[in-house]
Amino acid sequence: MNVEARLEELRALIHHHNHRYHVLDDPEIADVEYDALFDELLALEADHPELVTSDSPSQRVGGAPLDGFRAISHERPMLSLEKCTTVEELGDWLKRCQSRLDDGAPITLACEPKIDGVAVALVYEQGTLTLASTRGDGNTGEDITANVRTIGAVPLKLTADNLPRRMEIRGEIYMPLAAFERFNEKARESGGKALINPRNGAAGSLRQLDPKLTAERPLTMFCYGLGWAEGGWAPRAHTEVMAQLEAWGFRVNADAAAFADIAGVETYLEDLLARRERLGYDIDGVVIKVDSLAQQEALGTVTRKPRWAIAYKYPAEEATTRLLDVEFQVGRTGAVTPVARLEPVFVGGVTVSNATLHNMDEITRLGIHIGDTVMVRRAGDVIPQVVKVVEGNRPAGAAAITLPVSCPVCGSEIVREGDEAVARCSGGVLRCEAQRKEGLKHFASRLAMDIEGVGDKLLEQLVEAELVRDPSDLYRLDLETLIGLERMGK
Ligand code: IVH
Repeated sequence: MNVEARLEELRALIHHHNHRYHVLDDPEIADVEYDALFDELLALEADHPELVTSDSPSQRVGGAPLDGFRAISHERPMLSLEKCTTVEELGDWLKRCQSRLDDGAPITLACEPKIDGVAVALVYEQGTLTLASTRGDGNTGEDITANVRTIGAVPLKLTADNLPRRMEIRGEIYMPLAAFERFNEKARESGGKALINPRNGAAGSLRQLDPKLTAERPLTMFCYGLGWAEGGWAPRAHTEVMAQLEAWGFRVNADAAAFADIAGVETYLEDLLARRERLGYDIDGVVIKVDSLAQQEALGTVTRKPRWAIAYKYPAEEATTRLLDVEFQVGRTGAVTPVARLEPVFVGGVTVSNATLHNMDEITRLGIHIGDTVMVRRAGDVIPQVVKVVEGNRPAGAAAITLPVSCPVCGSEIVREGDEAVARCSGGVLRCEAQRKEGLKHFASRLAMDIEGVGDKLLEQLVEAELVRDPSDLYRLDLETLIGLERMGK
C-alpha cells in the first residue's frame, strides 16, 4: 500500500475509534492499540509533511499559542432560558404556549438534562469544523476554535452524504465529575490551584491561550440543538435534529426523552433528580422544549428568551453559609483532616453542617478564617467541600486557622513530613484510638471484609469499651459480650 492510502486508512481508523471512545463511551480496541495507530500516523506524517491535512487527528493540537481571542458575531443570537422551579409553573408555561399557538395541534415536549458547563456554537462547512465560539453576550462571542479542536468528543470532519452546506451546532462543553475530582486531588497534592467547580474548570480550560493546555484538561461535550442550517437540511422537530446529530457522530445526551403531557415530564423530572448524583456530570435542572420546529417558530422569542423552551431548576449544589469552627479529624492512616463546622445550609437537596477543608495547604490557599462567609459545594457522591471564601464579610478580629501541635484524640505529636500536604498523628494504631477506630471501620466496610452488621456505631462502642483493638479481635467476639452493648438484641 502506498503512503497516501495508508495515511487515509489510518485517519479513518483513528476517527472511528475516537468516536467509539469519546462519543459512544464504548471503545472497541485497547488504549495501547489506539496509541500504536496514532504513533504510526505521526511517524508517516513526519516523513511526509506535505500529506498532513487540517482534519487529520494529529492536528487537534496544532499551532502556536494565541495572543487573544477574536470576537465573533453569531449569525443567530444565542438565547437564554426562562426558569421555573415547580410543576405548576411548568403547567402555566405549557398553557401559555397552547393559547398562543391556538391551532389545537398537540404539543410534544422534549426534555433533557440542563448541563452546567459552557455554551458553545460549532460551525461546519461542507462537513468540516471551521469555527467554535463561546456564547459571550449572546450576540458576540469569542473564537475558541483552536481549543475546541482538542476535545475528543467534537468531530473535526463529518463524512455523511446528507450534510447541509453550512450549519451551526450548539451544545455545552463540560468537565466530567470524576475528571474534575482527579484534577483537584492532583492539584492539592502538588500544591497547585484547585478548581472551584467543574463549570469553572471547563470555562478556564477554554480560556487558555495555549491550546496545548486545553488539551490536557479532561473536557467533553453534549450537543443539544441546531443554531441554523443552510443548503440541504430542513428538520421538522427537535427530536429529529438530535437523532440526525447522533447519526452524524456528535455526542448527544442519552437521557433525553419526549412526552405528550406534563404528567410524563413530571415523572422525568423526578427520575432524573433521583439519579442526579450518579450522572457523572453537573446539571442544574432540565430543559423542556416544544418539539415541533414550526411551533417553535410560531411561538418566537421575547427579551432574548424563546417562548418555546423553559428551564426547570433543581436545588442548587452550591450555597453560602458561615464557618463556625474548624475541627481536626484523624483518619485511619493518621492523616489529620480539617473539617469545617458550618451554620446549617440547604445545598444539593440536603442540609449540610460539615464540609471538608482537605488539608492545611488548602486552608492557606483559601485564606479562610473562623466566622468567614464561605461557599459550600455538594455534588455527585463526594462529601461537601468548602470551595471559597466570599470576600467582604469577615467579622472583625476573625481568627486564622492553625494546625494543632498534638492529636486531639491521643495527644501524640502531629507531624508533616517533607513537602507532604497532609499532617499526621504520630501515635499510630497502638496509641491513637481514632486511628484504631477508622482502621477497623475500613476493615469491616463493604469494599473490604464487608462484615454484615458491623457498622460505625457498633465499632465505636467496641473500641471505646476496649473489646476490640485490632481486626482479629472481631473474630473472638461472642454472644455474651455483644448482648451487653447498647442497641443490641439477642
Ligand atoms: S437549549 C434558547 N438545552 O443553558 C436556548 N440549553 O439558559 C436554548 N444549556 O447557556 C438552549 N444544557 O448553554 C439547552 N440541554 C440543554 C442545555 C442548555 C445546558 C445551557 C445553554 C445556555 C443556558 C440557557
